[in-house]
Amino acid sequence: MNMNDNFKIPVLAAPLQGVTDNVWRMAQHEVFGGVDAYYAPFMRVEHGEVRRKDLRDVNPERNAGITLIPQILACQPDHAMMMVDALKLMGYSRIDINLGCPFPPIALHRKGSGMLAYPDLVEGLFKALAAVDEVEYSVKMRIGWDRNDQWRDILPLMEMLKPVNIAVHPRIGKQQYKGDLDIEQFEALLAASSCPVVYNGNLRTVEDIEATIQRYPKIAAVMVGSGLAANPGMFVPDAAPGDYRRFHDLLVDGYTEQLNGGEAQLVRHLQDIWQTFLPGTGRKLFKAIRKSRTLEQYETAAAAALADVENALKNAFSDESADSGDPDFS
Ligand SMILES: Cc1cc2nc3c(=O)[nH]c(=O)nc-3n(C[C@H](O)[C@H](O)[C@H](O)COP(=O)(O)O)c2cc1C
Repeated sequence: MNMNDNFKIPVLAAPLQGVTDNVWRMAQHEVFGGVDAYYAPFMRVEHGEVRRKDLRDVNPERNAGITLIPQILACQPDHAMMMVDALKLMGYSRIDINLGCPFPPIALHRKGSGMLAYPDLVEGLFKALAAVDEVEYSVKMRIGWDRNDQWRDILPLMEMLKPVNIAVHPRIGKQQYKGDLDIEQFEALLAASSCPVVYNGNLRTVEDIEATIQRYPKIAAVMVGSGLAANPGMFVPDAAPGDYRRFHDLLVDGYTEQLNGGEAQLVRHLQDIWQTFLPGTGRKLFKAIRKSRTLEQYETAAAAALADVENALKNAFSDESADSGDPDFS
């Protein structure tokens, strides 16, 4: 795995269902980069088969040139096996196990973070997965479902699976994405784990990452989710202003090609991107994006918002050169 030039440990792009799909990943990689490996949003079995949409998203042809780690979400070993078999057929030998999803319809069915309250189910799943040849795993988890010490019953089960690493988001599932991170429990888990641990949570800037690496020299990697969705150029301090426009246009092209529900679906999807993308976008500009009904209206509104970002970047650059201490010959 290539190391990010900025840090001594790898940077992993967290999976965000509905955001970091193959179109987003390829655009981020092409325009900005700085990510060592991308995790795909979780795959699942529905109506007795692996969702086709999920399989399409991880198709190697749609992920050329990047390191992609597909993720599976299952509680039943037979469902997990269906996904593992499908991924092996596609040539994958590394698969991530989701023990973190907090979404109630999933967690209340004892999947994702909901499974953390049932170590016996995790044991059954790990046992089946560990028996598969030629595949190595990683685990992405929270510290618990409804208690912050439930990881203590899960950690010993890792011996069976021997994951490459465990990415930990230090919240319990019931918190969803709200409330404080439980750093005390993260530190206890880090100290207790014999597997490499990846830190994941609220890393929004390069400085946040540097501070985390300094605070936890033992971590194997950092994983960045919402921070990278908000600013896909976070690892490129000198991103050219036009880069955000180029990134955005690659999304428009990609979704125009891959979504086949007509213009209304395309516009809705593009609008949804702005729920996480460039959260500093002014209220009026954001509202115009939300209100657009046709692709033409959307493109006009998005162009205005992107021009605003580009201006802000240009100003930042000219401020920097003014502060650079270059001799003034005037
Ligand atoms: C909209 C959304 C979708 C997510 N989808 C997934 C997913 O498919 N698989 C997963 O393991 N985590 C998923 N997560 C959790 C993130 O990968 C990550 O663990 C979490 O956002 C915390 O990291 P951050 O503070 O850097 O965003 C999702 C989070 C959000 C907000």
